[in-house]
Amino acid sequence: MQPRLIVHGGAWSIPDERDDTHIKGVSRAISEVYPLLKKGLSAVDAVEKAVCVMEEDPIFDAGRGSVLNIDGEIEMDASIMDGKNLAFGAVAALQNILHPIKVAKLVMTETEHCLLVGTGAQKFAQAHFIPEVAPEELLTESELEFYRKVKEEKNYTTKIPFEPFPEGTVGAVALDIEGNLAAATSTGGTSRKIAGRVGDTPILGAGTFADNESGAASATGWGEAIMKSFLSKTACEC
Ligand code: GLY
Repeated sequence: MQPRLIVHGGAWSIPDERDDTHIKGVSRAISEVYPLLKKGLSAVDAVEKAVCVMEEDPIFDAGRGSVLNIDGEIEMDASIMDGKNLAFGAVAALQNILHPIKVAKLVMTETEHCLLVGTGAQKFAQAHFIPEVAPEELLTESELEFYRKVKEEKNYTTKIPFEPFPEGTVGAVALDIEGNLAAATSTGGTSRKIAGRVGDTPILGAGTFADNESGAASATGWGEAIMKSFLSKTACEC
């Protein structure tokens, strides 16, 4: 089977001057992971690795580069799904972790659950020796500048059409040489979200879906709309 790897770095409004950095970011994920997929890496491990590359890149709204919520804090969501057996793992409202996707994968492989949130997810990550980082390590200058600009705006809501920020959820879909599909998605969510807001990313069938029988998808965009249409599962069934 010829393996395939597709990644995305968000579908929000990306200012022209940031095109290059976005393209470099997604290209790096492909160039680091696709050779491994060709050598036999599983689809699940490939999507995790590709998302990790983009979580490290401050240009994306995931891991380092995540947007701030209304309280000036970063809360991140992530999920991963194995199309071979429909195994699914997700985390929501996770803080101070560079790679939420790794925690989501541990939820999938090490527990009987699908989704862990907030302090429970945090404790689970600690118990599995996932290192915590200082909040400043995830925060970029440009995000802080944007936050300062809009934080006094009364009744701030996500603007449609989107403003130049946030810069983009990340995701990956892979087909491995065994013919198995997998998908993974990671995000800091939407700018100025209410603390505790969870978007589409950790919701099975909305932000992420993979089933060898139908397809695999990772969504990006406005979570409140994506959830209502279970976009990833709907796309796989079309
Ligand atoms: N699609 C990412 C979010 O709305 O949280």
